[in-house]
Amino acid sequence: MIELKNIKKSFDDKSVIKGIDLSVDKGEVVTFIGRSGSGKTTLLRMINALELPTEGMVYVNGESYNNKDKKSQIKVRKQSGMVFQSYNLFPHKTALENVMEGLITVKKTKKAEAEQQALVLLEKVGLTAVKDQRPNALSGGQQQRVAIARALAMKPKVMLFDEPTSALDPELVNDVLRVIKDLANDGMTMIIVTHEMRFAKEVSNKIVFIHDGIIAEEGPPEQLFNQPKTTELQRFLNMIREV
Ligand SMILES: Nc1ncnc2c1ncn2[C@@H]1O[C@H](COP(=O)(O)OP(=O)(O)OP(=O)(O)O)[C@@H](O)[C@H]1O
Ligand SMILES: [Mg+2]
Repeated sequence: MIELKNIKKSFDDKSVIKGIDLSVDKGEVVTFIGRSGSGKTTLLRMINALELPTEGMVYVNGESYNNKDKKSQIKVRKQSGMVFQSYNLFPHKTALENVMEGLITVKKTKKAEAEQQALVLLEKVGLTAVKDQRPNALSGGQQQRVAIARALAMKPKVMLFDEPTSALDPELVNDVLRVIKDLANDGMTMIIVTHEMRFAKEVSNKIVFIHDGIIAEEGPPEQLFNQPKTTELQRFLNMIREV
């Protein structure tokens, strides 16, 4: 479903991603872990062409893009839904209207049909009761679940999450993680960047440890968390266990 072939990325002269190959099968959940600045966000953003690689190829659902061809980038971008740390909802629209927006403007869905689909998605993320509230009347966890419903409305083949719970108060984290787990159980193909290691262990088929722009180690969660091979991963795990 996702294929990365020898991806490299530099910003000006600084090499940030230094040759990454990765494949993610349909229905697989892959979690990126690694230190701040190791390149996790940059790699995720290249998968939906928000960032373009300096070298290498990205394939999502069989589509690939060319750095000079905007249309090919948009085609690849449409294959995935992305959820960021910040929710970026439309402040003057209700939860329901936020989820409907892309259906109406991008998918050209008729309003009544868009509303039906949005209601189903809001129910899925547990927000039926607050569908008519605007973002500032919602908790961070609720806003993030609106953002997830909004991304799902575009019927992506893949979901990409970049630290979806990092901005949340601890008591709100689980509601968001539960929604992501439900998606995993539904068979959604996903890549998740997270510091929630227990969650990563539970939900992931594969953990990818990114260190200094390369995949330093990858494998099933039990293997990576319990028997790390590289000193870099051992150090990283010790560091996060101390916090
Ligand atoms: N637009 C940009 N211009 C220049 N440098 C950038 C840009 N985006 C990222 N970088 C650099 O690329 C490196 C990797 O950044 P990236 O955001 O991918 O790391 P990360 O693993 O997501 O970190 P974190 O855990 O803090 O989110 C960093 O050194 C960062 O400063
Ligand atoms: Mg990041």
